[in-house]
Formats: sequence, structure tokens, C-alpha cells
Amino acid sequence: MSEPWAEAALARALDCVASRLGTVGYPHVTRNSRWVTSRDGSWTGGFWIGLCWAGYEERRDERFRSVAQRALEPFVGRASEARNHDLGMMFCPSAVKGFRVTGDPRYRGAALRAASSLAAQFNEEGRFIPGWGAFGGDDWSGAVLVDTLMSLPLLLWAAAESGEGRFRDVALAHGATSLSHHFRQGGSTVHVYRFDPTTGTPIGPGTYQGKSPTSCWSRGQAWAITGCAQLARLGAGEPYLEAAHRAASYYLDHLPSDQLPFWDFDATGPGEPKDSAAAAIASYGLLLLGENEPSLWEAGVKCLRALAEGAQAPRGHEAVLLHATVDLPHGIGIDESTIYGDYFFVRALQHLNKKSSGQLK
Ligand code: GLY
Repeated sequence: MSEPWAEAALARALDCVASRLGTVGYPHVTRNSRWVTSRDGSWTGGFWIGLCWAGYEERRDERFRSVAQRALEPFVGRASEARNHDLGMMFCPSAVKGFRVTGDPRYRGAALRAASSLAAQFNEEGRFIPGWGAFGGDDWSGAVLVDTLMSLPLLLWAAAESGEGRFRDVALAHGATSLSHHFRQGGSTVHVYRFDPTTGTPIGPGTYQGKSPTSCWSRGQAWAITGCAQLARLGAGEPYLEAAHRAASYYLDHLPSDQLPFWDFDATGPGEPKDSAAAAIASYGLLLLGENEPSLWEAGVKCLRALAEGAQAPRGHEAVLLHATVDLPHGIGIDESTIYGDYFFVRALQHLNKKSSGQLK
């Protein structure tokens, strides 16, 4: 059954991406509705490249492909970074995807290097990859972020691609630490869990972008749903599927009636901003889970449609989605747009349209 609203939303989103193909640098987040770009791709450059690959996949328009390839040239140099927990988020949508689309062995090599750099950060005592990288400042060596679940698929890809078991071992060891410390009884998640980095002893929950150590930061919840859903699909095992289901149930049970989450599930009062990026990431995860669970498929479609109708920017706007909140506690990107929100919105629409046209079995 085809979904005309979804086809229209994808066409409008890709027109928006096409209109930005001349951008110098990597679109990151908007300020006053204008893209702020990064020179090196920050932690988000892979999503810009992934959007260009999505445009190429959908339209076979060489302009998308050549921008993806040009943006990848300097970006692959970052595969060797020694303190960066986002390497999987950065290299799955860019280099792994680029290898799949073009077969270029340089992209495969870069993705494998990124996986090696990620695995090398593993703290053997605490059995985690520290959440260092993008934030800078404080000492992150004992801080483990729920977001890192989204980097682990790179390790499972690398294990399958190279035959090296160490990648899988690190992914599952970090994953087990995350499942037991980030996921609360009722399915909500902690953003940051702190450990003593020397002994690996657990210290307790914290947060960086959420409201408090006991709250549920919406985008962290979305990373948890989609990260675990992807890991389960890649064969990480039943605990990841169960965790994804529990996180999805919490997410769906606590959504406001417009299906667009506030920036934190414990900040729902008047004037609290929404996070459309969390909604886009969660919609994609719900559709992944929904392939084997019709009620979650329906929920994912409902969330995605609500985004298309309630947060997709009008034509001529710089970004695809409005109403994201990057980091409220630090006053960054409130009611703006993010390249990751745009990326997951497009990925979710592609997934839905594939299913509708029978390409997804
Ligand atoms: N640190 C990833 C995020 O802001 O969602």
C-alpha cells in the first residue's frame, strides 16, 4: 500500500538537500534558521554525506554522488581519531554506505580504520568506550553515553567484513555495560553513566544534555531505540531486541498527543521546546522494529507522519525539519534544525516507501 504523503515528504526533503549541495563545509545545526557548518564535519558530517547518498540512491542524480564523494575525501582522514566515541555514527552513513553504493575500496578501508580506532578506545576494566569526543572540556574518560549504542553497528559491520572477532567482542561488551546501566526498569534511559575510569567501578547516573540524572532525555531515548534495533538486526542477540522494545514502549507511552516529544520526557510544561530530531531518530527505529511487529510499524508510521505534517519545513527553508533542540541545558540550538534529524527523517521515509513498494520483504 503506497503512502502518498510519505512520497511527497521525501520528494520535498530531497529537494531541500539538493538546494544545499553547494554548501561549503558540513551543515551541522542551524542558528536563527541558517546552517552553521563545520570545517571538519564535527560528529555530524557523516549524516550530511549520508543525506547525499540517499539523494543519489533515490534520484540517480550525479550531483548528489559527487558531493558525497567530495565531502568524504577529507572526512576519511578522521578515521584514525583516538578519542572519539562517535566514529560509528560518523562512518556508517558515510563510508560504509559509500562502499555499498560505489564499491570503492578506499571507503571500506576508511570504515575499517574507524572501527579499529573505536575498538582501541575500549576500557578493559569498566568494559566500555568512553563518551569523549564532541563535547571537549570535562574529563570524559569514565563517562559512558547512551548515544554510543549508535556507534556499535560499525563494529559489527567491521567484524563481518574483516572476520576479526575483536570488533564484535568490544561491541557486545560495551553493549552489555550500556544495557545494564543506561536502561531503567520502566524502559526509560539515563543519558550518562559514570564509572571510575581506572578501576571500572560504577559510580552513578548523570546527564549532559538532559534535564537531570533521573530524567529521560528524549534524544537519548531515541538513540537507545534505534541503536538497539540496529544491533538486534545485525545479530547482537535477544537482549538488544528486548531493550529496544522496552525503550520504544516508554517512548510511545509518554508522547504528547501531537507525537512530537518535548526535549526531555520530564520537561513537559508550557513553553518547553520539542525535539523533532528525537522524533525522526525514533521513527526510524520504530520502523526497523516494526518489520516484525505490526503495532510498532503502525506507531512508527504515525510518528513519521506527525513529523511530516507538524515539523517539516516549507519549501525554501534551509533545512528539512524544524523544531529540534540540540542541547537545552547549555543553551545550544533551541527550536532549530539538525543534520541528524534531517538524515533520520529521510532514512525513515525511504524505509517506509520501500516497504510500500514491496522492496522490503
Ligand atoms: N551527542 C549526540 C546528540 O547530541 O544527540
